[in-house]
Amino acid sequence: MASAVNSLRDAHAGHLAKVFAQYPIEIVRGDGVWLQARGGRKYLDFYGGHAVAGLGYGHPRWLAALERQARQMSFQTNALPMAIRERAAAKLAKFAGLDLDTVFWINSGAEANENALKMAFKMTGRSNAVALEHGWHGRTAAAGAVTWGALEKWYGFPRTPFDVRFSPRDRPAAIEALVDRDTAAVIVEPVQGVGGAYGLGKPMLQALRQRCDDVGAILIFDEVQCGMGRTGAPFGANHYGVTPDMLTTAKALGNGFPVSALMLSKRLARQIKYDDMGTTFGGGPMACAAAEAVIDAIVGESLLANVRTVSEYIRATCVTGPVTGIQGAGFLLGLKTTRPAKEVQGALLEKGILTGTSGDAQVLRLLPAYILTEGHVDQLSGALAQIPP
Ligand SMILES: Cc1ncc(COP(=O)(O)O)c(C=O)c1O
Repeated sequence: MASAVNSLRDAHAGHLAKVFAQYPIEIVRGDGVWLQARGGRKYLDFYGGHAVAGLGYGHPRWLAALERQARQMSFQTNALPMAIRERAAAKLAKFAGLDLDTVFWINSGAEANENALKMAFKMTGRSNAVALEHGWHGRTAAAGAVTWGALEKWYGFPRTPFDVRFSPRDRPAAIEALVDRDTAAVIVEPVQGVGGAYGLGKPMLQALRQRCDDVGAILIFDEVQCGMGRTGAPFGANHYGVTPDMLTTAKALGNGFPVSALMLSKRLARQIKYDDMGTTFGGGPMACAAAEAVIDAIVGESLLANVRTVSEYIRATCVTGPVTGIQGAGFLLGLKTTRPAKEVQGALLEKGILTGTSGDAQVLRLLPAYILTEGHVDQLSGALAQIPP
């Protein structure tokens, strides 16, 4: 099958460092769930800038909040109190409803995980961390150390900052031997993103919660990708009914304005001293205004209910053509494909639909905006049906 994505460009001919191989389309505009490429062709976006554009492009509430905040006060350090910073933190804590009421604002997913892990080691004085096979947590020293396969593929540091043990993602029975009284933290994505939109399920998360309680380890949920409404609940923690001690989130939190958050229980927050954590850009008023607008839109426009309804519709209609099954939750879905997912992705792109791949070569990932409708899904299922199985 001819594949547009197979011809991804590796040519960063200008001044840009190589980051990712690029799609063969250049995007010049976005509106809702639609992208417009140079030359005018429109693409239906099921990729969302890699799970970031939860509200879609140009959402009026998000635009207005950023413009208002930019005019009023565009930046101030955490050393100066600002109402917007506290207000957005209170909204995030209320939105989560998990008793993770203390928020540290930072800028990226990796930075949130780096701080979560650092604080877990500092608080427990222990020596190892446990993560799951196929998990993804970011590219910095600690976050990369707990990312499955990073050491073999791209981890550049001469050694990891602590010992890491990886557990199978589907065997609660394996946890007891791996998580012990030397374990500072267990870090997991309730729904693994890069790992193929793979939901860990309640028994696995409950077993992790129980074991952490038994040995005094800190349970961290990395909800950088699966959080902020993507599962159809505020967080994966709500979706599965299991509460961690720390939770990190980013991506859809700012709808494209860089912002991440580390959320902690009161018990842990009491142990933080001034200067244990710090940041220049984190908690900037623009970032907080973006996060506040995102939460207001999700709540005010009943977007969680839309995610749940339209997700069910995807499950009901998109097992067609090369798709044999669907895994994941809400709008973090993995379409299992008979042929390499990259080929299906290429064929869909030629039909004007943008999707993502994953760490699993046979899983095509969907990460659409929460405003997606059943009509958009009909376009996807129609396109899939035209691709030979
Ligand atoms: C679950 C998860 N954690 C952490 C990260 C890292 O986030 P960032 O790229 O913002 O550092 C990602 C990025 O894809 C992710 O999916």
